[in-house]
Amino acid sequence: MISKYLKTITAAAAVAAISASAALANDFRLGLLTPPPHIWTKAAEKFGAELEEKSGGKHTLKVFPARQLGNEAQMLQQLQSGALDMAFLTVAEVSNRAPDFGAFYAPFLAKDIAHAGRILGSDVATEMLEQLPGKVGVVGIGYGMAGLRQIVSRGEVNSAADLSGKKLRITPFEPILDFYNDLGAAPTPMPLPAVYDALANGQVDAIDMDAELIWKLKYFENADTVVESNHMMFPMVGLVSAKVWQGLSEEDRAQISEIMKKYLAEVVTTYVEKDPEWLEQVKGTGKTYKKVGADFFGDAPAKWDEKWSEKSAYLSKMREVAKSTSEE
Ligand code: BEZ
Repeated sequence: MISKYLKTITAAAAVAAISASAALANDFRLGLLTPPPHIWTKAAEKFGAELEEKSGGKHTLKVFPARQLGNEAQMLQQLQSGALDMAFLTVAEVSNRAPDFGAFYAPFLAKDIAHAGRILGSDVATEMLEQLPGKVGVVGIGYGMAGLRQIVSRGEVNSAADLSGKKLRITPFEPILDFYNDLGAAPTPMPLPAVYDALANGQVDAIDMDAELIWKLKYFENADTVVESNHMMFPMVGLVSAKVWQGLSEEDRAQISEIMKKYLAEVVTTYVEKDPEWLEQVKGTGKTYKKVGADFFGDAPAKWDEKWSEKSAYLSKMREVAKSTSEE
């Protein structure tokens, strides 16, 4: 009788021990839309490897690139429900839910890629992350980025008038939609994987894109003109589901933050270093290459500021940050 009682107690203790360790250990999943060789994906993998090592194998991370878990809107929903633990998402997607983040897309906010890095490292940029748990159900750990935005077009582009009425691919988010609408183009929202074929078969006349992908995914191949305009920044943000975050110990949170921040910062440094090199390589392809400034876009940048001063409480602060960080 006593031995049966003891067996029951021992079994119950074993079950309790197993569930306690299950609550502490985590097999995290991180989603992103970029393909496996992309800088963001590599950074996510390095983050996972270091997390596993530093946690002594307690935590593991499986990275799901190339929209395996859905598009960014779907990944954001999964983060909100806790079905997905982490993601590296474009700030573009986040700005669809938290319009304050639209301030990052103020035309010509950054004078060059290094300046973009300094803006993302500012206290104001960090402060903006504080609203994410309440507004979007995610915790923002820090920023990464892709390069500044350029335009690649079929046909000649000598002035903005040449883009008038042209179907121009954009990442699906409001700040850029407003910008090209004000310019008189016909902005066409389209996710990244559809872009190459759309430009090749003439479904779109032009694309809004960063230097890295113009070069590496060979978007220039199906175009006649590359316009180096550097008209907008393109930040990324490292996110953890707020639901998942709540279940983590202080120690785990600190460790995840520290390691993820390290690799997000490395992404920024990589773009600062490489963006000018990719542009040089694109220039060397023999396509017509034009370098333009804000005046190319006429009154579109000013109209954008007028509109977005209503939509984002952070626009004027962000312009101040840009001013104060314009010199190193
Ligand atoms: C884009 O939509 O153009 C894009 C998205 C993620 C990384 C780089 C570019």
